[in-house]
Amino acid sequence: MTDKATLTIGDKNYDLPILKGSTGPDVLDVRKLYADSDHFTFDPGFTSTASCESKITYIDGDAGILLHRGYPIDQLAEKSSFLEVCHLLLNGELPTAEEFTKFERNITYHTMLHAQFDSFFQGFRRDAHPMAVMTGAVGALSAFYADSLNVDDPKQREISAHRLIAKMPTIAARAFQYSQGRPFVTPRNELSYSENFLRMCFSVPAEDWVPNPVLTRAMDRIFILHADHEQNASTSTVRLAGSSGAHPFACIAAGIACLWGPSHGGANQEALEMLEEIGSVENIPAYVQGVKDRKYKLMGFGHRVYKNFDPRAKVMQKTCYEVLEQLGVNDPLLKVAMELEKVALSDQYFIDRKLYPNIDFYSGITLRAMGFPKEMFTVLFALARTVGWISQWKEMFEDPSRKIGRPRQLYTGATQRDYVTVEKRG
Ligand code: CMC
Repeated sequence: MTDKATLTIGDKNYDLPILKGSTGPDVLDVRKLYADSDHFTFDPGFTSTASCESKITYIDGDAGILLHRGYPIDQLAEKSSFLEVCHLLLNGELPTAEEFTKFERNITYHTMLHAQFDSFFQGFRRDAHPMAVMTGAVGALSAFYADSLNVDDPKQREISAHRLIAKMPTIAARAFQYSQGRPFVTPRNELSYSENFLRMCFSVPAEDWVPNPVLTRAMDRIFILHADHEQNASTSTVRLAGSSGAHPFACIAAGIACLWGPSHGGANQEALEMLEEIGSVENIPAYVQGVKDRKYKLMGFGHRVYKNFDPRAKVMQKTCYEVLEQLGVNDPLLKVAMELEKVALSDQYFIDRKLYPNIDFYSGITLRAMGFPKEMFTVLFALARTVGWISQWKEMFEDPSRKIGRPRQLYTGATQRDYVTVEKRG
């Protein structure tokens, strides 16, 4: 079996080593290509580029496989808990009972925010999008927890990771409560991660908050499904920001900003808005025609990597039915979603382009039934993805070959020319 490829440019041959992963496609190592041949490789959108080596998450887009540290996502969603998955992503293994107790305690005891942090929220308008609040608030953590910012110290990296996983629910719940004009709710150490988050979001001083185990489980599962997804746009943003040695909280704020875009995490809000716009089943054919006429995209459909089905979408659909049944919700949008899925999956336009529902297609309906306004959907994605971002960031620092990320370009602008004074221009 060959372990190198040969590239011919003009009359010269260049050997490119072929690196093998534990599974998935091999990669051509082009690191020395520029030095040897004076050529760059060109891959806008990174459709054929492995930007790093990683041991965290594996995706086979054609087979619809998603593995975290080797474990299939459906098994984790079914049998594990979000905190266990956090331990797995961060540390490489599912925790023993003893390790879990210690990890859970560490996270639980970092959930509170510095008291002064609360006044930070007051600077935002009440109608600000909660993702704008999240970007600002998470970036501001660097100003409050300056004792864990030394990225070259593994212990400080670990403390920052624990702080982020622990404080994201508190920040997200505050962003929500603030937008609703309700008082902030302090975390409770006796509650589980997801139960605590739901309480911080929905508890009001006027009455006792009653937990609902089905909703807690659904929340936990939604967090698991969003926990990590290989080198997607926001994760690559976190890695690139981190490659300069920037503070971890600033890197995560950069990831949140990237996630907000409608092609990425912002799609869950847009998918629900699309279902609202379609309104009822009889409007689906006209809407689908608009997609084919390229007036707009079908939000919650398609994926850069999954060209068969999104394994997260299957679990999400099941969770959606469970939540709606438990709450006795008869959401007309679910009917629209199911019919739209059916129409799209049998239409040649979507078949040819391998467009299948992604995780965002059913998450919006579920979260809406749980009481979250659509502006919060991407916030919940960011909360869950934080563990993926920080695990990838940590892995980058543990890699001895780490370098600052510095892509190059194909320059097509003006060549060198002399400055012309204003009276001679035109
Ligand atoms: N609706 C209609 N057509 C689509 C869609 C869609 N949602 N997605 C892709 N296409 C078409 C696209 O127009 C193109 O057609 P043609 O070859 O005729 O020009 C073809 O499919 C290939 O699309 P692409 O733009 O090259 O695909 P991409 O890999 O660059 O984009 C994507 C992936 C997720 C950005 C895109 O599918 C999309 O915008 N989907 C809607 C937004 C969405 O749901 N995003 C959430 C992704 S899952 C959550 C996450 O991980 O963030």
